[in-house]
Amino acid sequence: MRFPEYRPRRLRKDGLLREMIRETHLRPDDFILPLFVRPGKGVKKAISSMPGHFQLSVDLILKEVKEAKSLGIPGVILFGIPEKKDEMGSEGYAKDGIIQRTIRQIKEKVDGILVITDVCLCEYTSHGHCGVVKNGKILNDETLELLSAQALSHAEAGADIIAPSDMMDGRVGAIRRILDENQYEDTPILSYAAKYASAFYGPFRVAAESKPQFGDRKSYQMDPANGDEALREVELDIEEGADMIMVKPALPYLDIICRVKQSFNIPVAAYNVSGEFAMVKAASKLGWIDGDLVMMESLIAIKRAGADLILTYFAKEAARKL
Ligand code: PBG
Repeated sequence: MRFPEYRPRRLRKDGLLREMIRETHLRPDDFILPLFVRPGKGVKKAISSMPGHFQLSVDLILKEVKEAKSLGIPGVILFGIPEKKDEMGSEGYAKDGIIQRTIRQIKEKVDGILVITDVCLCEYTSHGHCGVVKNGKILNDETLELLSAQALSHAEAGADIIAPSDMMDGRVGAIRRILDENQYEDTPILSYAAKYASAFYGPFRVAAESKPQFGDRKSYQMDPANGDEALREVELDIEEGADMIMVKPALPYLDIICRVKQSFNIPVAAYNVSGEFAMVKAASKLGWIDGDLVMMESLIAIKRAGADLILTYFAKEAARKL
């Protein structure tokens, strides 16, 4: 192919032509909407760095879930702010914990939308780490038991998909086993397989009140400099029984999404995280970028890279535009 015989601009000259040969399309059912639940009734607390997002009490979460459903969004993922936190994150796996109550309410009152639950301790522990802490260390194998209990309590409450986000080794296998032993062999696992130790989670940690009280998460979440390691993490999770895997964050890690999609024949999700959302909102508010255009371009780029599903705070806005 050479100029002047080949003129790529021929196929770009008008909108219909461009549409006809477009390779990637976004649909509302590409999106999963993250929601933050807190105790109380009628509580709607704004999350300042995430315009349009709130910590909501269960009654208001129901409205949000119905709205997501009406927009064609196939699922929500729940994050909980518990009544109280402790060393072992016990509200995370309590039968009547904030998430367990929320799942039951949603399942009772809304159908036709999937409830995905984030399995991790950081929202429930007083130290804010994703596992059991001893002498300043985050213990792996001791944490697996608590994560398994948490996953089972979500399944018992009616969760449709279990999504472990803690990055402990062996958690997918441990969760698969406990679900199977309790007749939840049909409950799928979406594992946060390649989850990086990212500064892009900043606004989420304010929203979920889950900032680590000492140190950082680098001993369990991945080093942003590594790509091959992501493939090893994904391979392990698939071997342990993950049905879908996730890459997180999304935009700075499009290469990882692409490599994972090309290396494994399994649905790939990408998490367009809080910091990615906040940057677009902030620059847009300042008038420095067109927020809507940047939103749609970001989402289509994530899909083009290979994501089958996108967890995004833009879910409702983007679905409305489609
Ligand atoms: C829990 C969890 C985090 C996110 C999703 N699940 C925070 C973290 O690992 O610190 C981040 C999501 C976002 O930034 O939007 N471990």
